[in-house]
Amino acid sequence: MTPELRRSILSAIAQDGGNVAARLAEQYGVSRQSASAWLAKLKQEGGIASIGVGRGVRYHLATLAQVRRVYPRAGLSEDRVWREAIAPALHDLPANVRDIWNYAVTEMVNNAIDHSGSERVTVELLRDALNTTVYIADEGEGIFLKIQRALNLYDPREAILELAKGKLTTDPANHTGEGIFFSSKVMDAFDIRSGTLHFMHDEWEADVLLERPANAPGTLVLMRLANDSRRTLQEVFDQFAAPEEYTFAKTIVPVRLAQHEGEKLVSRSQAKRLTMRFERFQTVVLDFAGVEEIGQAFADEVFRVFHQAHPATALLPIHMTPAVEKMFKRVVKG
Ligand SMILES: Nc1ncnc2c1ncn2[C@@H]1O[C@H](COP(=O)(O)OP(=O)(O)OP(=O)(O)O)[C@@H](O)[C@H]1O
Ligand SMILES: [Mg+2]
Repeated sequence: MTPELRRSILSAIAQDGGNVAARLAEQYGVSRQSASAWLAKLKQEGGIASIGVGRGVRYHLATLAQVRRVYPRAGLSEDRVWREAIAPALHDLPANVRDIWNYAVTEMVNNAIDHSGSERVTVELLRDALNTTVYIADEGEGIFLKIQRALNLYDPREAILELAKGKLTTDPANHTGEGIFFSSKVMDAFDIRSGTLHFMHDEWEADVLLERPANAPGTLVLMRLANDSRRTLQEVFDQFAAPEEYTFAKTIVPVRLAQHEGEKLVSRSQAKRLTMRFERFQTVVLDFAGVEEIGQAFADEVFRVFHQAHPATALLPIHMTPAVEKMFKRVVKG
């Protein structure tokens, strides 16, 4: 069995555990017996398990490693959590994947230590033949409320927009506001839940290991990465650096985050909310995906007023609909 075939069968099972032999037979143009033989081999290797028999048999990816540790926050260090709880379960993964995990786990544990005020920090890991998922949870103030309070925001949803921009910290004496920005971009899936809000990078599809009611206190971070990912930390850092420099100089902002449900982006105040802290970057890519149209005052405030006040920051709009582009051109041409 080639690695590609193995991966493809495992992915098919991860998507849907029912009717697998028939689906594989159809997909690969082989007999059901051959498909069943593949499944028997994967089962023998330990990567998959099944329940039920005959036509009702259902497959799922086996759990190959599972860790759960609860630490008192006082006196905790992120390196210790990495060394004790996480690294041993990942020792055989490729170096680029281990480096990504080392970075993201220590950043998120450091956040729980430095920002949450929680009594305890809980770390869980779940690994299967395709992916590893890590959860970091605390029972502190909650990230969105903390940011809302510190930045004096009207709505905790605005905290999500600020996090997406990057360089957001409520403790500038000790931090730079890079941890969540880069951790969310090195992972295949990254999700922060706090209160009733989610900050998501990629779709939410993994099942939640840590059951938590919508209004549980504190912050839960979920991170998932393919065990055979080719991504490297360096390439992600480079994507947001200025050419020939190593600093965090560029960001990509999903503009739709400034648009709350049922709203349209029309006003100068919405534009000011969007452009807040943009001057800390040399380049801001404005991703208009999901934004149908924008109003003249909004466009004027972003592309003319902000730009004139901060000419050193380049604004690069992408994914514009014809209606958005028309408004953009109208205000930049004057
Ligand atoms: N577990 C948490 N509980 C409460 N607030 C949090 C938590 N994690 C992060 N935050 C808030 O989110 C902000 C952004 O976090 P992020 O990790 O991106 O930056 P930082 O920790 O401030 O700086 P850096 O990671 O560069 O040291 C923090 O400054 C803090 O206000
Ligand atoms: Mg941090």
